[in-house]
Amino acid sequence: MKIIHKYNCAGVCLYLSVLFLIMISGLTSTAWGDSSMCLSCHGDKSLTKTDSRGNKISLFVSEEEFKKSVHGSIACSDCHTQILDDSHAQKKGKKVDRKVDCGSCHEESEKIYQTSVHRLKAEISCKECHGYHYVTPLSNPKSATYRTNLVQTCGACHGEESKQFAESVHGVGLSRGRPNHPTCTTCHGTHGIKPRSDPDSAVHERKIAITTCPQCHAAEQITREYRFTTKPVKSYYDSFHGLSYRGGDTFSANCASCHGVHDIRPSSDPKSMIHKDNLQKTCGACHPKASLNFARGKIHTLPDIKGGDFGEKVVGWVRVTYIFLIVSVIGGMIFFNFTDWLRKTIDRKP
Ligand code: HEC
Ligand code: HEC
Ligand code: HEC
Ligand code: HEC
Ligand code: HEC
Ligand code: HEC
Ligand code: HEC
Ligand code: HEC
Ligand code: HEC
Repeated sequence: MKIIHKYNCAGVCLYLSVLFLIMISGLTSTAWGDSSMCLSCHGDKSLTKTDSRGNKISLFVSEEEFKKSVHGSIACSDCHTQILDDSHAQKKGKKVDRKVDCGSCHEESEKIYQTSVHRLKAEISCKECHGYHYVTPLSNPKSATYRTNLVQTCGACHGEESKQFAESVHGVGLSRGRPNHPTCTTCHGTHGIKPRSDPDSAVHERKIAITTCPQCHAAEQITREYRFTTKPVKSYYDSFHGLSYRGGDTFSANCASCHGVHDIRPSSDPKSMIHKDNLQKTCGACHPKASLNFARGKIHTLPDIKGGDFGEKVVGWVRVTYIFLIVSVIGGMIFFNFTDWLRKTIDRKP
């Protein structure tokens, strides 16, 4: 009896301690598997470390903001795959591996990004545009990548382009929240941005007058909404510049040669490259002998009898007269030949 009892006790003890161990390990793994254990230290605003130059760096992560982010439901260690517990906290001075591979979950973005100038030449990482702990959904107007905020986000590194753009007709419209004004990524793309010299770049010289600007300025729906017309694009294609551009002449003028790129302004703006006072300079870049009169000629005209412009009307009427003459001459000839044939056929009948 006694022996059996002793035996039982040892068995129960062993059983209990194994159970306890399993529980402990289970507890710890679930705890490190969510953010709470990490936040027990990093949720403290005063947690800092000193870097090699002696500067204090905050290691604080706001639980509230993190939980609200798109990544709020994933664990710290899902991104910080090299940090699985608190052992790094004791190894003062030893470098903690803080490398994070966003592409392990966002394969699609990562794949495109690998072809981008930002990866290949600049080596900037995802966090430069998106941030990291507090990434908000794309649709959130506060998101760093929301269309109206890109002027600042990209502008952190491309200050000159962003400054010019912010003051342009497009930038002003964008800042007012108009949906059809371009932002940086409308023209450049997002994850696959290439240098402008790359034929695959969305702003390569060969694409500017085919897609970059016409994607909006030849789109009936957008032009109707903003009460401008598709005429500039159509007339450009019929012009000597457009014809030689489409024929492959790289010296010919495309939209950007005359309008600029980031600082596009309406012709009424004295700072605009197409303001009447600046045209001599604008055209003069390629036509060094351009006189005032040369530059003053209307650029975007289409023959149209209802055209707003006198020249357009004249050319429109000339065209109408031409068509009338062609139809009457050829029609007359056909009529003459027909009656001639008819008479001969009737004459030949016995
Ligand atoms: C016991 C408190 C504590 C816990 C728990 C803790 N950390 Fe830390 N963590 C620290 C301290 C202290 C440092 C600074 C170490 C140093 O001085 O190099 C640090 C550093 C870091 C760094 C590196 C910062 C840098 O700039 O080098 C990262 C990333 C980090 N912790 C992530 C985590 C993650 C993820 C977890 C949860 C798995 C976690 N920590 C849990 C205290 C803690
Ligand atoms: C979406 C991925 C992601 C998640 C989730 C994430 N981190 Fe980070 N964390 C990063 C990136 C990226 C960095 C910057 C690394 C670098 O400098 O290259 C970073 C840096 C840090 C740093 C260094 C100080 C700083 O702010 O730059 C600490 C500390 C840290 N993380 C702790 C945490 C803690 C604690 C959690 C969980 C509450 C967490 N991280 C969750 C991506 C993440
Ligand atoms: C040059 C700035 C920039 C960089 C660098 C960048 N992104 Fe983006 N990303 C954006 C913009 C802008 C959008 C918003 C696109 C939109 O609204 O249609 C976006 C959208 C996303 C989306 C939403 C889905 C999608 O593709 O539209 C994910 C996910 C994403 N990025 C992940 C990443 C990852 C991962 C990296 C690094 C490999 C990265 N991004 C690097 C600017 C950037
Ligand atoms: C462990 C996997 C994982 C890692 C690593 C990760 N993410 Fe995410 N990310 C997600 C999930 C899950 C979502 C939410 C998807 C959804 O809501 O459709 C998300 C959403 C996003 C979105 C918002 C997409 C949208 O449509 O609004 C962006 C932007 C983003 N992540 C960027 C990043 C960046 C930048 C990093 C690196 C610092 C990163 N992610 C690392 C899993 C991850
Ligand atoms: C309407 C279309 C359009 C918009 C919007 C636009 N860009 Fe551009 N961008 C272009 C074109 C076209 C070029 C090529 C210019 C050339 O070939 O000379 C260019 C060139 C660039 C270059 C290279 C400049 C150089 O000289 O190397 C950078 C950087 C750039 N853009 C950044 C931006 C940023 C940042 C924004 C937003 C603030 C932006 N762009 C908005 C069309 C645009
Ligand atoms: C963290 C800094 C940084 C941010 C943020 C950034 N860029 Fe860049 N970008 C660079 C660097 C560096 C280069 C490479 C310059 C070089 O070596 O030619 C570059 C190159 C480019 C080029 C190619 C220039 C050329 O040669 O034609 C374009 C276009 C461009 N970026 C647009 C953008 C846009 C649009 C955004 C925002 C969505 C953005 N960048 C955000 C740093 C940045
Ligand atoms: C995303 C669409 C979009 C793209 C791409 C775009 N534009 Fe525009 N553009 C607009 C809208 C919308 C307006 C109307 C601005 C307003 O009145 O507020 C406009 C206005 C203009 C104006 C002034 C028109 C006027 O009557 O005042 C010029 C000039 C112009 N764009 C030239 C260009 C050139 C050149 C390009 C290519 C480098 C280009 N745009 C690319 C949408 C676009
Ligand atoms: C050879 C120079 C030149 C080229 C190339 C050119 N434009 Fe123009 N554009 C002008 C001038 C000058 C005006 C002023 C009004 C006029 O002459 O019709 C103008 C007017 C405009 C306007 C009306 C703006 C206003 O304020 O009156 C728009 C929109 C426009 N152009 C878009 C484009 C687009 C899109 C392209 C390319 C498909 C293009 N332009 C190519 C010189 C040019
Ligand atoms: C980027 C350079 C460039 C700019 C800017 C430019 N042109 Fe031209 N232009 C050319 C080239 C190249 C040709 C020859 C095209 C062909 O017929 O093969 C040409 C041809 C012409 C012609 C017909 C041939 C001739 O020499 O008489 C006229 C007229 C003309 N341009 C007017 C203008 C006006 C007006 C402007 C300013 C609003 C202007 N161009 C701006 C490059 C340019």
